[in-house]
Amino acid sequence: MTQDNSQLMDGSVAVEDQPLKKLYIETVGCQMNVLDSEMVVASLRRQGYELADQLESADTILFNTCSVRENAEEKVYSNLSKLKKFKLAHPEKILGVMGCMAQKDQQIVFDRAPYVDLVVGPGQLHRIPELLTRIESGDGSQMAVSLGRRDGSQEQIRRSHETFDPLRDPSMRPTPFQAYLRIQIGCDKFCTYCIVPMTRGPEQGRPPELIVEEARELARQGCKEITFLGQTVNSYRHVTGNHKTELADLLEQVHEIDGIERLKFVTSYPKDMTPRLLQTVRDLPKCSTYLHVPAQSGSDDVLRRMKRGYTTADYYDMMDRIADLLPDAAVSSDFIVGFCGETDEDFQKTVDLVQRCRFKNSFIFKYSVRPGTRGADLYEDDVPDDVKSRRNNELLAVQNAISQEDNLKFLGQRMTVLVEGPSKTSVKRGETGPVRQMMGRTNCDRIVVWEGNERQTGNMLPVLIHDASSHTLFGSVETMEMTPSVVSLPTMT
Ligand code: 5AD
Ligand code: SF4
Repeated sequence: MTQDNSQLMDGSVAVEDQPLKKLYIETVGCQMNVLDSEMVVASLRRQGYELADQLESADTILFNTCSVRENAEEKVYSNLSKLKKFKLAHPEKILGVMGCMAQKDQQIVFDRAPYVDLVVGPGQLHRIPELLTRIESGDGSQMAVSLGRRDGSQEQIRRSHETFDPLRDPSMRPTPFQAYLRIQIGCDKFCTYCIVPMTRGPEQGRPPELIVEEARELARQGCKEITFLGQTVNSYRHVTGNHKTELADLLEQVHEIDGIERLKFVTSYPKDMTPRLLQTVRDLPKCSTYLHVPAQSGSDDVLRRMKRGYTTADYYDMMDRIADLLPDAAVSSDFIVGFCGETDEDFQKTVDLVQRCRFKNSFIFKYSVRPGTRGADLYEDDVPDDVKSRRNNELLAVQNAISQEDNLKFLGQRMTVLVEGPSKTSVKRGETGPVRQMMGRTNCDRIVVWEGNERQTGNMLPVLIHDASSHTLFGSVETMEMTPSVVSLPTMT
């Protein structure tokens, strides 16, 4: 943390009498990026910025980027080139690229888009206010990136990947009563396809006292649901002296905080789904019974080449443990199809795994070679794109059929839903005028939609389910009165 920043963190507003500057920020990628954008906005508000809805009206434009797949990067470069004319016509506006692509490409961003003013990796975001000031005072373009995984001592590399998480800005959250809370940064698993260990650096568990204090602050701000974030969130550990804190301990501590009603954590690593963690989720009523545990493939040969560190037998054992301790839990997964050397037989094993595990849902991706990963050096990207697409569609169809079938089991049941707000297709014409379609999630992360009103937003509400598709449950609320925050009716998870 720089001196400049710790001064700003005391809550003082840096610029009081000057007109507000406008910030436009566009975020792609994972929940980590959503949280990073929240932090950057919070720090820039203290610097006298307010948010702009339109890119054209902003003084500073930031793209928070993702490098997990090539198409996400190419989209950013294409957006940057579309902005070239605009930026040249308005040289006083500041154009910045932050996040994983900034860390991975560094100087390449300036080479491909020389009119960009700012490149900042995810471990250096706390420097953005200072770097913007430098650009404004005529110091030219600025770059702040973390050290590469071989560019210094372990300690130097770790320290170059920082978080500045205590800065929060409720207006940037998905909803004001839901928040992400980072408990871990970086990753040391080095799966051969994945760029994240390079862009987000070594795995570091944040100190538990900071996490618990941040959760208390979130509760004070009115937050009801906290989702702990980490690349391998269940591998979280923090050691001080001979005292070790694990994810289960953090869940126990944050569970005590008044006002917090639901706790989730993503993303889990199969090998670290310990019985103790599952027992903790079972025994703490605020813990969501939703687990996101990517399998990536159902073939042991592919898993070995991916260097995932487990076999399908290990994964099935983990699923048995979950079924044993949390019979109502919903499990979701990620899969990569068309990884180097994946044969039709390998792919069929992935289909078999999906059929056997019956995930709530699966995120399926076509393999995308990432320069800088071991996979890019070791293996040939030899599965043609049309085969990747075919496997992607086939696996998705298998998963969707399972999701639809399993969702039908909820018909006639009453489920407690945390109301997130109007659904995407919000207003319907009813007999007596417009009707709001509301949307929320159950304790096991299933999406529920019903006809309601916006006053329900932020409440826990019992919804009776009477229809289901593969992705959504449709229901009705039995009373239209304002419901108290916690409803203790017998419910399914
Ligand atoms: N190509 C395709 N998908 C990838 N993922 C990670 N790296 C790649 C890649 N190179 C997927 C994994 C991971 C999810 C977030 O993105 O499935 O779990
Ligand atoms: Fe990437 Fe593997 Fe780490 Fe997940 S566990 S972030 S896939 S290296």
